[in-house]
Amino acid sequence: MEKETILKLKEDLIKDLENVTNSHDLEEISIKYLSKKSTLSQAMQSFRTLSREEKVEYGKLINEVRTFIESKISEVSKKVKEKELIDKLESDKIDITAPSSLISTGAKNPFYLVSDEIVDIFVSMGFKVVEGPEVESDHYNFELLNIPKNHPARDMQDTFYINSNLLLRTHTSPAQAHELEKNPNKPLMIICPGKTYRRDDDDMTHSHQFAQVEGLVVGKGITLANLKATLELFVKKMFGEKREIRLRSSYFPFTEPSVEVDVSCAECNGKGCQVCKGTGYIEILGAGMVHPNVLKMANYDPEIYSGFAFGVGIERVAMLRYDINDIRKIYTNDIRFLNQFKKRG
Ligand code: PHE
Repeated sequence: MEKETILKLKEDLIKDLENVTNSHDLEEISIKYLSKKSTLSQAMQSFRTLSREEKVEYGKLINEVRTFIESKISEVSKKVKEKELIDKLESDKIDITAPSSLISTGAKNPFYLVSDEIVDIFVSMGFKVVEGPEVESDHYNFELLNIPKNHPARDMQDTFYINSNLLLRTHTSPAQAHELEKNPNKPLMIICPGKTYRRDDDDMTHSHQFAQVEGLVVGKGITLANLKATLELFVKKMFGEKREIRLRSSYFPFTEPSVEVDVSCAECNGKGCQVCKGTGYIEILGAGMVHPNVLKMANYDPEIYSGFAFGVGIERVAMLRYDINDIRKIYTNDIRFLNQFKKRG
């Protein structure tokens, strides 16, 4: 092969390299100049037929041209790779200011919205949260709350019995009985939230399983005025500053006197409308002064100690607060219902 042909490879290569823009082009050039089929390889093959002196001279030339080609290609390859990396980084850039796609979040069941709020309100007044078992003994659910066997008040609180002694608690008051027993003759201020059960036919306002928050305050010199002030504060925080409460006398075996607490109707502000059935008030909870028998059974001296108690149904508060007309909506987890309670903003 002519020496000029081999030398010309250098010029050709430089021309070809001028047009290279990416590693694919470069790969093709490298095949053209360095593969087995390249002019250079062909020149090597004719090498064998040459005389010794020619081999030295020819070999030098081929080596020099090959080194030139390799170093030029690798020089350009570095530049091309660098450029390609920069291009990739540019195109992959994440715009952190771009609006995100919508993330779907769940909503808290109104039951939990309300129960958390009730607990927060009482905790802010200094109440301690106490929980008790849902499976209770007759002793704690009834006897210690002044509801002896065969007492007619048991009728209102019929429940699910596991055996003649164990039952699903009908209220969270037994948790209070446990707490009283633990600290005889010490003042206390507790709330007991939790699930409760009764033998009830399920309808729009009743369920065989529901939940309560019951409160108990025991100390020296506790009066009905303390009960009223505490519940008034609770109602205003829960339903709004304008709400008033009204106490009506009632009966519970574990409190004496006992009261039913009504809140003024938010719809008509106490004037009377369809919502409050013309009375201006809506009943929300039961309460009263702890019966001396209950204190005595827990080893408190009723001559020194007095107290008040109240019990509020969580679902009932949720229904009033959010205008829910059927208690079953709270339990059935219909997503269309729950989505209405998504936090806004
Ligand atoms: N334990 C009562 C109930 O479930 C509610 C209540 C509690 C009433 C405390 C008065 C005092 O019906």
